[in-house]
Amino acid sequence: MSTTEQRVAVVTGAARGIGAATAVRLAAEGRAVAVLDLDEAACADTVEKITAAGGKALAVGCDVSDAAQVDAAVTRVAAELGAPVILVNNAGVLRDNLLFKMSEDDWDTVLDVHLRGAFLMSRACQKHMVDAGFGRIVNLSSSSALGNRGQANYAAAKAGMQGLTKTLAKELGKFGITANSVAPGFIATDMTAATAARVGMGFEDFKTAAASQIPVQRVGEPADIANAVAFFADEQAGFVSGQVLYVAGGPLN
Ligand SMILES: NC(=O)c1ccc[n+]([C@@H]2O[C@H](COP(=O)([O-])OP(=O)(O)OC[C@H]3O[C@@H](n4cnc5c(N)ncnc54)[C@H](O)[C@@H]3O)[C@@H](O)[C@H]2O)c1
Repeated sequence: MSTTEQRVAVVTGAARGIGAATAVRLAAEGRAVAVLDLDEAACADTVEKITAAGGKALAVGCDVSDAAQVDAAVTRVAAELGAPVILVNNAGVLRDNLLFKMSEDDWDTVLDVHLRGAFLMSRACQKHMVDAGFGRIVNLSSSSALGNRGQANYAAAKAGMQGLTKTLAKELGKFGITANSVAPGFIATDMTAATAARVGMGFEDFKTAAASQIPVQRVGEPADIANAVAFFADEQAGFVSGQVLYVAGGPLN
């Protein structure tokens, strides 16, 4: 690959929230972006934002926890946009419950989307990165990786993302590939809005309560996370690998 060629990024879960902001940011920096989410039609808004700003994007429908769909999606991205050499494993779901009420399905769904999804996507994209002698993998972890009441499944998955990241960094470094993790604190998205609804609070009150516990006294926005992802995805970040960056408006206890 020549360095003047436009690099191709895949962002999973990019129909909305953090993934959408990340896709838009990577496109603004000159990457062609595959906007991947469960429903291809739901990716239209993000694709439209990118193309309206003069960028290049492709909507791709794919369940990241399904190996056949992942392989087909990555093959399609390579054919229609070019070899994917930047991968942001962002797709995610919550199935919060205290342990005694958590079903096996709650557990499996969360582990499958976050961890199996990141594994399958990384495995499918790495061969393109190895061939290019260049790659950037950025995995979305969470402050919940440190443990969070009601999130046994999610905390395990997000801690797992950190172990996966460090292992990918060790295995793939010799091919010019870095792997890093961004671990957000509270970010205002549909995911946190759904949590507010689940606990019976209005989203504004929920955000105000969260902000009061955060040193910078505000909740995060998707662009705060896109900014951190963009740093790790940058060509110039080639000596930064296997790291976990908490982006939470302050240190976590
Ligand atoms: N919002 C926060 O406060 C916060 C904090 C820490 C970490 N995170 C993590 O950041 C990531 C993005 O979160 P968000 O707040 O933007 O969430 P969100 O719910 O707004 O968006 C998640 C996206 O992932 C997609 N998705 C879900 N399952 C999928 C699957 N199997 N295959 C493909 N796509 C799938 C959804 O359709 C959705 O578009 C997640 O991994 C989440 O765990 C979020």
